[in-house]
Amino acid sequence: MKVTVVGAGAVGATCADNIARKELCSELVLLDIKEGIAEGKAQDMMQTATLLGFDTKITGSTNDYTKTAGSDVVVITSGLPRKPGMTREELIGVNAGIVKGVCENILKHSPDAIIIVISNPMDTMTYLALKSTGLPKNKIIGMGGTLDSARFKYQLSQHLGCSPSDLNAVVVGGHGDTTMIPLISKATWNSAPVTSFLSKEQQEKIVKDTMVGGATLTALIGTSAWYAPGAAGAALVESILRDEKKLFTCCVSLEGEYGQNDICIGVPVTIGKNGWEKIIDFELNEEEKAAFEKSVAAVRSMNDVLATL
Ligand code: LAC
Repeated sequence: MKVTVVGAGAVGATCADNIARKELCSELVLLDIKEGIAEGKAQDMMQTATLLGFDTKITGSTNDYTKTAGSDVVVITSGLPRKPGMTREELIGVNAGIVKGVCENILKHSPDAIIIVISNPMDTMTYLALKSTGLPKNKIIGMGGTLDSARFKYQLSQHLGCSPSDLNAVVVGGHGDTTMIPLISKATWNSAPVTSFLSKEQQEKIVKDTMVGGATLTALIGTSAWYAPGAAGAALVESILRDEKKLFTCCVSLEGEYGQNDICIGVPVTIGKNGWEKIIDFELNEEEKAAFEKSVAAVRSMNDVLATL
């Protein structure tokens, strides 16, 4: 198996590091447009192989896509990250051109690849990848909800004083500070509803802190976060390459599901060897449906910007 990670910045390198540590593939290519950075980070990671005990062969490449030929999965992290105070949406002008170019290059050498999109604004970049590659819809997966759901479980675990691994909780909708929808009514601690253990105020705080999870970290660190985004990308690669059919929230193309068409947005899906395989209907309540409609409208207006670039 072969995986390419495009973009050797903090998110791309962390994603590659996780993929190698888990030995998800025999060959891993890290590619970046900046001279030497991918080669350097690939070598640095390879020098951890004997210390961490993995056999994945990592190579770096400065924009030479022939090295990526025959990849089974490609993770796109390219583009500018957020700076403090910025929204993900403000990145569209620069990142749309970058992501489109990356997709074209990837397709030339790996026409059968499954593509995972991490670049922001993630919902619109996923839609762009779908439209510009013309790949079957199941092969284009936006990572956002996987990360947001992990952040939601973290916030819940802090209030419940429990292990995040004992929680089932998902965030649907767009991957934006105001467009994501943490489904607290459906979240469980093993099988008990979390709402039984949390006051209304706590629930509101958890939802709010989850929604601004990325922005909070950007303010603290000075740039966009990378450990959880990189790990979320690697978790999707794992479910694909091991055909785990795990349930994640991912940004995928809807054709009637959740009442929507011609949009990529976060919904619960199973992830396996064919990419995203099944959309699961979580039967949103009226309030959640209204929030989903609002989120869809915001993502649609962002997608409309693509035509003006
Ligand atoms: C975040 C970026 C990766 O949420 O969108 O941290």
